Amino acid sequence: MIKFSSTASFFLLISLLVTNCFSMDAQKCRPNGRVIGKKSPPRHCNLEEDDICCIPGKTYKTYKCSPPVSSHTKAHLTLASFESGGDGYQPSRCDNQYHSDDTPIVALSSGWFNNKSRCHNNITIRGNGRSVVAMVVDECDSTVGCDADHGYLPPCANNVVVASKAVWKALHVPIEEWDGLDITWSDA
Ligand SMILES: *[C@@H]1O[C@H](CO)[C@@H](O)[C@H](O)[C@H]1NC(C)=O
Ligand SMILES: *[C@@H]1O[C@H](CO)[C@@H](O)[C@H](O)[C@H]1NC(C)=O
Repeated sequence: MIKFSSTASFFLLISLLVTNCFSMDAQKCRPNGRVIGKKSPPRHCNLEEDDICCIPGKTYKTYKCSPPVSSHTKAHLTLASFESGGDGYQPSRCDNQYHSDDTPIVALSSGWFNNKSRCHNNITIRGNGRSVVAMVVDECDSTVGCDADHGYLPPCANNVVVASKAVWKALHVPIEEWDGLDITWSDA
């Protein structure tokens, strides 16, 4: 599983809120459960002051589904490292390996990851007026969160594509805007 960089987490939280508030076009995908924020061990979550951990007592929705995939599936693009010692706690779920951030690779929300069915498939990502083909190597888990195994971070939103920096570069997004981007994607 991926641990998001602080800013990515922030935008992830925002996108969670937005998804919850404006879920008209995501009616077909309803939450399957919830997790409740636990108190994290001292200093665990506050290494960086803007790191967003689950707030103790707060409820977070979990999703096994993601919005339906089409030729232009709307998603929110975020940034993470897939390298050893990067943002990921663990190697990528598809192959139990770390990957270079200089290769265009992504993690998908659980519904789209679909129990590894898209592993090592390529997707076309369109954003910022450009497109890039990237390989699926990991899951952004929207079914669990707020526990020790997930760094006391909230579950992923159900409409996220987490990308290596190579993807952001290929889309020619200015580095100061690598926090989050609305994109569409399709199976390549
Ligand atoms: C995911 O795939 C594995 C291996 O094919 C299978 O054992 C498992 O039951 C599947 N899980 C779900 C939730 O479909
Ligand atoms: C995805 O793209 C990579 C890089 O071009 C290629 O090596 C790989 O075979 C592709 N995967 C599939 C399933 O076509």
